[in-house]
Amino acid sequence: MQRLTHEEILGWLRETRPAALDQLFAQADQVRRERVGDAVHLRGLVEISNYCVRQCHYCGLRAARSTPRYRMNREEIVACAHKAVELGFGTLVMQAGEDFGIEAEWLAGVIRQIKSETPLAITLSLGERLLDEARLWRQAGADRYLVRFETSDPELYAAIHPLRGAAISDRVELLRELRKMGYEIGSGVMAGIPGQTYEILARDIELFAELDLDMIGIGPFIAHPETPLGAPDVATAGEDQVPNSELMVLKAVALTRLVCPEANMPATTALATINTVDGREHGLESGANVFMPILTPSPYRQMYQIYPGKACVDEDATQCNQCLRGRIQRLNRSVGEGQGGRRSGGGEAAFGNASQSAAATKARQPLSDELGQKESSQPAEETLSQFVVLR
Ligand code: 5AD
Repeated sequence: MQRLTHEEILGWLRETRPAALDQLFAQADQVRRERVGDAVHLRGLVEISNYCVRQCHYCGLRAARSTPRYRMNREEIVACAHKAVELGFGTLVMQAGEDFGIEAEWLAGVIRQIKSETPLAITLSLGERLLDEARLWRQAGADRYLVRFETSDPELYAAIHPLRGAAISDRVELLRELRKMGYEIGSGVMAGIPGQTYEILARDIELFAELDLDMIGIGPFIAHPETPLGAPDVATAGEDQVPNSELMVLKAVALTRLVCPEANMPATTALATINTVDGREHGLESGANVFMPILTPSPYRQMYQIYPGKACVDEDATQCNQCLRGRIQRLNRSVGEGQGGRRSGGGEAAFGNASQSAAATKARQPLSDELGQKESSQPAEETLSQFVVLR
């Protein structure tokens, strides 16, 4: 594994020279190819409820917001699972707000049914539920659990995640407990939340490595006008504030691939939202190896408004699938077969099409050109090899 020091990560997050950044992206792409292969795994996402008890300052599903709420029933969820199989996906991700109306025994029954009727891996993304509930779902057959820790900085975390009464909120500890239960664990952060400094984002990336995460999702913060962090006069970290730009997300994805070479990393819907043309491709070219096509049926899909303008909301599952497969094919990558877990296989293409995809990568423009970075072009004095110390 390539170890980057804190200073090196920080240096890269602040780097703006296109030629240097192209080396970072190329290195991340190479590590991705060597360690997890050319296969892009498809995880069908079904947003099973938009009820939430929490008040997170960035999220459009926060309890205080008055917005139409829904909770899918068992038949609707199981139908999505069968749709996932039909479309060739290996994993079903069930996501919701933190909704205790999703009763633990009930969900265990849904999980058991899906596991008995399909070959899908099941990922849960249901917020900070009780450990006993997570244990029950694991016993019912759930394979993976996603909970983004959002920031490694305790003060920033507390400022944007109001507590519920006397409850404690320690997502890092929760992730450790979930791993002990046998789940593959996933986490992540948003790039550019107001108050996030370069120092903090660098430590976030180091925490990914420390937790040895199986899955890591990084997307841009997208201001939701009906949330506290979406207010026009929101306080930022001034000069140290991380921008919520596509380039910043790509740098974070690339650095994460270098420090967590085996992790499954999506090119997120939020990234596709801030660059609808080719944000997803840029993600795949900077270290990502997963797409999460949305399976949630209408009209629920339109009601799961974590942030405004979410990509893919006006499409249905079949269109999402076709669009994403087209994007994979055009990059000369392949679609992953099977469950594609970190430990349940899926690295099958690790040494498969390396030369083919190396050629494809070469034929493309440097990512920095596509990101419109040319104007600040200066020759890169330091090369990546001076930053990335192979140990
Ligand atoms: N912009 C971007 N991503 C968001 N999320 C929540 N709100 C926003 C927003 N305004 C992300 C969080 C959460 C995940 C499900 O969606 O990181 O963990």
